[in-house]
Amino acid sequence: MNIFHDEDGLDFSASSESSVRQYRVLVEAFMGYRPQTGGELKCLLEADPQMPMALCMKGYFGKMMGGVKNAERARILLGALQPLKTGQALTCREAWHTDALEAWCLGRLDDAALIWEKILVHYPRDCVALRLVYFNHFYSGDSRRMRDTVARVMSRWEDDHPLYGYLLGMYSFALEECGDLDQAEKIGRRAVEINPEDSWSVHAVAHVLETRQQHEAGIGWLKGLEADWSTVNNFRFHLYWHQCLYHLERGEFGIILDIYDRLLVSDLGSEFYLDVCNAASLLWRLELYGVDVGERWHTLLDVSRGHVQDRDLVFVSLHYLMPLAAAGTHDDVRALVANLEDWENAEETQSTVLRSVGMDVAHAVCLMREGEYDRAYRRLSSARYRTDLIGGSHAQRDLFALLMLDCARRGGHGLEAEGLLAERVALRPHSGWNWLQYSGALQENGRREAAENATRQAELLTCALNPS
Ligand SMILES: [Fe+2]
Repeated sequence: MNIFHDEDGLDFSASSESSVRQYRVLVEAFMGYRPQTGGELKCLLEADPQMPMALCMKGYFGKMMGGVKNAERARILLGALQPLKTGQALTCREAWHTDALEAWCLGRLDDAALIWEKILVHYPRDCVALRLVYFNHFYSGDSRRMRDTVARVMSRWEDDHPLYGYLLGMYSFALEECGDLDQAEKIGRRAVEINPEDSWSVHAVAHVLETRQQHEAGIGWLKGLEADWSTVNNFRFHLYWHQCLYHLERGEFGIILDIYDRLLVSDLGSEFYLDVCNAASLLWRLELYGVDVGERWHTLLDVSRGHVQDRDLVFVSLHYLMPLAAAGTHDDVRALVANLEDWENAEETQSTVLRSVGMDVAHAVCLMREGEYDRAYRRLSSARYRTDLIGGSHAQRDLFALLMLDCARRGGHGLEAEGLLAERVALRPHSGWNWLQYSGALQENGRREAAENATRQAELLTCALNPS
């Protein structure tokens, strides 16, 4: 094993220089969500089975994929790296990556984040450290840290670097989550011009259009670039999920169900965690919009049942819980909730999220499906301003706001429901559904004139959709 350096100033212990070149191909595939990423890693490990960064990547991939079996695989990889670290056979950067993998395996995501940020101070072009810390901040609901982590290293990259566009896309999405929509759109579109297959950048602009409620423009944006972004791995289904959100606001439920059946749940067997998050979140939204989703919850049960013992991300576990609560047995639900209750008491970063907000949301999900809307409302309203900690995007977490609203209306909290809807129409005035719901709540509270005005707003939006 010798030490080699790549053109980004990164040092590698490897058996040959060609391993470093192969690692770079792997990182490019990883950054681009390319379907061949796993195959590239396999080839690298076949060529250089002891290369520390290749072993570390395999451990990282295990943690990223999530689930009990993958967590165990990551621990085995960590076990292979630790003697190398003890024997001082690793470069300083590789030792830090090993420490980060160890922290991740122990559930100490906050420690892992600090280590990745330390790596970036010394190696600002370590893409893997950047991508991992970025997603850690994403799943901590910490948009500002996401934004600042990227901005901190961008000046150390030349703008003609082959991976520079990915940084722009990451920065764009972080800006969007921080509410800087104009800058987010400008930078996101630039990233897509550089590389239209960069699905994260396409996604960043899709978020901007969703937040601005430019539903028609959003559909046009995604459809116009579909041939490019749909070449990526299962992350492409999240972009179809975004397309469905635009159609939802336009009342185009038939299109949504078609996309759901044909695409969103077409590869559940791959166990990509985001697939169930997309599906569960969309099914519940459809139900809130009055759509009969038939037996679709049932088709998610097998995957959810396979993840009741996971201890990766509260955000993901809550989405696995939804199909179980909607269509599973009492034992299914109990198994997942019992795991959350045990996890809540661990000394892990996500345990604090469970204690602060996750358990309230989990119980509310179950209570809603038991028809206990008043109790669910109390859980959700007490946790309301802490849901950011669950992570995910504003668009994804909006489901929790919608659930609280539903609970308020069904749980006998009419005035609170009216207040929530007043907030909603103020923030999202281009949603006909919001206005109709608002009108209904006003009517129920005896405010007839205000209800008629709200109905008119809804009708104006419907007419704009169907001018004929
Ligand atoms: Fe998204």
